[in-house]
Amino acid sequence: MFEPLAEAFRERFDSEPTHASRAPGRVNLIGEHTDYNGLPVLPMALQREVRIVLVPREDGLVRLANTHAEFDAVEFEVGVAIEPGPPGHWGNYVKAPAQELARRFAIVRGFDGILASDVPVASGLSSSSALVNAVGLALAEINQVGLDALALGGLMADAERYTGTRGGGMDQAISMAARSGHAARIDFNPLRLRHVPVPEDWRFIVADTGVRAEKSGPAQATYNRRRAECEEAFEAVCAELARTRRLLRPPKGYQGLLRTVQDDEVLEAAKRSLDATLLKRFRHVVTENARVVEAQDLLYQADHGRFGTLMDASHGSLRTDYNVSSAELDELVALAKEGGASGARLTGAGFGGCIVALASTETVDDVLETLVAGYYEPRRMTDRLDQRLFLAVPSDGASYRAL
Ligand code: GLA
Repeated sequence: MFEPLAEAFRERFDSEPTHASRAPGRVNLIGEHTDYNGLPVLPMALQREVRIVLVPREDGLVRLANTHAEFDAVEFEVGVAIEPGPPGHWGNYVKAPAQELARRFAIVRGFDGILASDVPVASGLSSSSALVNAVGLALAEINQVGLDALALGGLMADAERYTGTRGGGMDQAISMAARSGHAARIDFNPLRLRHVPVPEDWRFIVADTGVRAEKSGPAQATYNRRRAECEEAFEAVCAELARTRRLLRPPKGYQGLLRTVQDDEVLEAAKRSLDATLLKRFRHVVTENARVVEAQDLLYQADHGRFGTLMDASHGSLRTDYNVSSAELDELVALAKEGGASGARLTGAGFGGCIVALASTETVDDVLETLVAGYYEPRRMTDRLDQRLFLAVPSDGASYRAL
């Protein structure tokens, strides 16, 4: 699987690559905009991934080329204060793990490498975290850092903040630590991951709107604003609950709050203390948390219908309360349902990118056809359709090996 890349490496560096690092993208099944609030998520890793073949270096230089013509090669020295490139430049996702590992573990060795990726870019499938993880894992192995997959995933979440997005930790954790055939429930503070088998006859369809949602571009400000709104809402609701003596000491984040006070009561306090916008944001977070907890059980029970209903509810909440959907995402969701999907929702941060729909072995073909006929054909988007519309195969997390 690395041979075409190895060939490209030989051409560029005139030597034989010795190692390979790979890290998958992910699709989030449910639990959107909960991770940075310290609440759980339920994603799975995809069969699409970032691959790098490389040769470790004795010095601290990192030289990484990209087989994608759009992206020029990056070169920099590993260190504790690496100068970033322009905002949105892919090289920042290469520098991010290098700087974080240098700060925490004083790593000193870089590598020469070349990279290929088949994770659609800026589509809500974590192409950027897959890149951060593939580079981070390579550097961690070369420098014998010795962290387990999940701990390294946690570190990569911190690393990615170098690029300016105040993301949560879902993408890096699932991309590092996933298990094939499984989704995972991930909890935060502290980071924990539990593998949950995906029933064999469930089919998760990923469908891309074709509208790019650049996390390091225009979507970044909105994403960061949502995060700030959640913090503001949390403070106000806690103050209200303290005023009425329902909270005797400040809880540790949303997690602590929802463990101490029932959802209904928390939402009542929110109605008394928040303006209309903050109330909507807050309501999404609280209800989405409950959906994730239930969805995990439904996955264990292989309850296809109820799981789909939760996905629908999640999308509704993201659309009307969290305001991160778009006309195209709504249209794909509606078409998936029309075609017989049990549930469908936007996946990832929103603002564009992809939806994920749940079908069964019986309904999957109809759903796919309805999406093609209703969305891709009228827009003349049927070229390279397999890039935009595919079945998600729950896959293994990142790995590094000798070639
Ligand atoms: C992006 C972030 C994640 C998460 C999602 C929304 O993918 O990287 O941490 O916040 O958005 O659920």
